[in-house]
Order: sequence, then C-alpha cells, then structure tokens
Amino acid sequence: MLVNGISLHNYRNYQEIHVDFHQMLNIIIGRNAQGKTNLLEAIFYTVTGKSHRTGFDSELIFWGEKNFRIILNGERFSGKVKIEILTRSDGKKVLKVNGQPKKKLSELIGIINAVLFSPEDMMLVKGGPSIRRRYLDIEISQVSKYYCNSLVNYNRILLQRNSLLKAVREGEENEELLNIWDKQLAEYGVYIIKKRNEVIKKLIPIAKKIHLNITEGNEELNLIYEPSINISMEDFEGSAEDNFLKKLKVNRKAEILKGITLSGPHRDDIDIKIGNINVKSFGSQGQQRTSALSMKLSEIEFMKNETGDYPILLLDDVMSELDSNRRKYFLNVVKGRVQTFVTSTGIKDVFDTIIDNSRIFEAQSGNIIILQEG
Ligand SMILES: Nc1ncnc2c1ncn2[C@@H]1O[C@H](COP(=O)(O)OP(=O)(O)O)[C@@H](O)[C@H]1O
Ligand SMILES: [Mg+2]
Repeated sequence: MLVNGISLHNYRNYQEIHVDFHQMLNIIIGRNAQGKTNLLEAIFYTVTGKSHRTGFDSELIFWGEKNFRIILNGERFSGKVKIEILTRSDGKKVLKVNGQPKKKLSELIGIINAVLFSPEDMMLVKGGPSIRRRYLDIEISQVSKYYCNSLVNYNRILLQRNSLLKAVREGEENEELLNIWDKQLAEYGVYIIKKRNEVIKKLIPIAKKIHLNITEGNEELNLIYEPSINISMEDFEGSAEDNFLKKLKVNRKAEILKGITLSGPHRDDIDIKIGNINVKSFGSQGQQRTSALSMKLSEIEFMKNETGDYPILLLDDVMSELDSNRRKYFLNVVKGRVQTFVTSTGIKDVFDTIIDNSRIFEAQSGNIIILQEG
C-alpha cells in the first residue's frame, strides 16, 4: 500500500499544502513545533479514521477557521484510491472514497493500512491496559471491518448498560431490563474476545522472531492474552456466550452498586513476558522498549499476512530514542518493502549513513519543502 500524496487545507498548522511522497522512504526533519507530527497525524487520521493525539476533530482545524479538508491519494492492489475528509461548518464530516460519499469513518478503515510508532508507544509495555487494548483494536480493525463494527456496537451497548445500571441503583428502572442488554453485550463481547485471542496467537510467532533478532538470540518474548472473562475459547458459540452471561450474573449486584460494567473486553489486557519474567513489572527500560518495538514491528508482518499487502509505516520521533543497532535493525526490516515516513529533529538522529532511494523534507512553520532527493 502506498500514499502518493496528501493535500491539507486548514489542518492543524497547515493552511494550504500539497506534498508528493516517495514510494519508499520519506524523512521529515525540522525543529520542534513545526508540524512534523501534524503531517503524520493527517495521514494516520485519513486512513484509520483516528488521530493518535486527540479524539476531538475540532482540535484538528486551523485555529480560528471553521473547517478542514484532507485529500489523500493512495494505491493498493486494486488500484489508485482517493480519500477525502472535510468538516462542515456544523461540525459534521463529509467522507468520500474515489468521489463516492461514505457515511461512516469506519468505511475508510482498511483501504490503506498503517502502523504508527510514536514515543507514546514506548508505553505499550509500561503503561496501563487501555494502551494495549488500543494497540490490538486499531490493528485488528484495519484488517477486519466486522471487528471494527462489533467494537463500535459493544462500546455503544456498554455505555447504555452503564447508564441503566445507575438508573437501577437509583430505583428509576427495573433490574429485569438488564437482561436484554446483557444478551447483546455478550454477543459482541464473545466475538471480540475470540478475535483478539485468534490475532494474538498469530502475532506471537512474528513478535518472537523479531525480538530474537533484535536481541541477537538472547530473549524470548511472549504475549499472553488475558481476557477479563474466561469464555473458554474452544467452546461453541452458544456456551461461550453462556459463560459471558454467567459472569455478568455473578457481578450484577456489584455492578448496580458501582454503576459500571466490571468485566468484558473493555477490561482485557495482554501480559508481556521475556522468558518467565513479566516485562511490565520486572523488565529493564531497555527490555520494555525493545518489547514495544517488537510488538509494533510484528503488526507489519501480521497485516501483510492478512491482506496480502504491506501497510505503510509512520515513525514519529522514535529514531532518536533507539540506539544505533536497533535503528539499523528497524530500517532493515522495512527497507524496500514498506513505504515509510520518519520524522526527526535532525537527519543524524535517523541515519548513521547517507541513504539513497528516499526523499527528505523539511517542516518549517506550516510549510513542507523538499530538501533532498536520494
Ligand atoms: N489546530 C491547530 N491550528 C493551528 N496550529 C496548531 C493546531 N494544533 C497544533 N498546532 C500547532 O502545531 C505545532 C505543533 O506541530 P507538531 O506537528 O506537533 O510539531 P513537531 O514538528 O514538533 O512534530 C505547534 O506549533 C502548535 O501550536
Ligand atoms: Mg512531533
């Protein structure tokens, strides 16, 4: 998959730019606060429907303006693709793929897949479970529309169920009503758990291999899915749902008291181990970083296996955080196969040697200029 170019109008600190990208390697350098991350964010937002920095579209609009427009020209197996997102003055979004209007952001997902690695991803191991769930969800949603929609439905039902739990607590609603929501929550919940389990199983050998390579054969990485409800994965659909419902039944009193749903996919986690050691609690900072790197890199191979094509790779400000061995490894993995976008404050932070087959840009207060064509 490729992103050939992007046009931004009133997006973050860009009033009007058009950038044509290199098919292999794009390096965007520039001082702080010049718009490097904004450019990568615009690409990621257009292909996944999500910004990695904000959940509010209003923050994406150039200050003082009313709307933004993004036009992204890309390529995939099936041919060229043009994705357009524009916000209207009433805050609504207009989405188009090859000129055809689309209703939902989720319809943009999976056309061009992307793996984004930013400094926050270093928290993948160290941080809270929600970061690891997000890692899984963005990854799986890009290769499965059904998963993406199930997740949207699950979260909607979860919110409604939580308000019902509160209403029951206040004596405003009848407890019996919960049964209907439980059934729906279980239906989507079971699917999400099964899919996460299936995907983690596929990720394990990929991440293991990468991690062994980076650590020169010294460390065995392991990922263990920890669903908050044990539905016993090998069972048939029906009984898995029964297990889910059983857990809701057991929790019901406590849930009414607290007004929230205490278990389900929204409470899942991944246990990350090197050998038998839990990396989150006992790993060194280096081990935590390398594990995060292995998990991120494994997304690339996973998506290739699922879709037949490599995703694009966005590396925001992470090169300077890696030592030169890891940097080399990183670039070797992607070289020649994965269209890559790297940002950094200086070229020296990215590469120790001059690289050919690339385009170097400089971000300069809302402008992007080509510095060098390699
Ligand atoms: N909605 C917006 N409108 C205008 N400027 C913005 C908006 N959001 C962020 N900025 C500006 O963008 C700049 C940060 O850009 P960023 O891409 O994060 O920089 P960096 O080059 O360090 O990655 C800051 O100067 C910030 O003030
Ligand atoms: Mg930045």
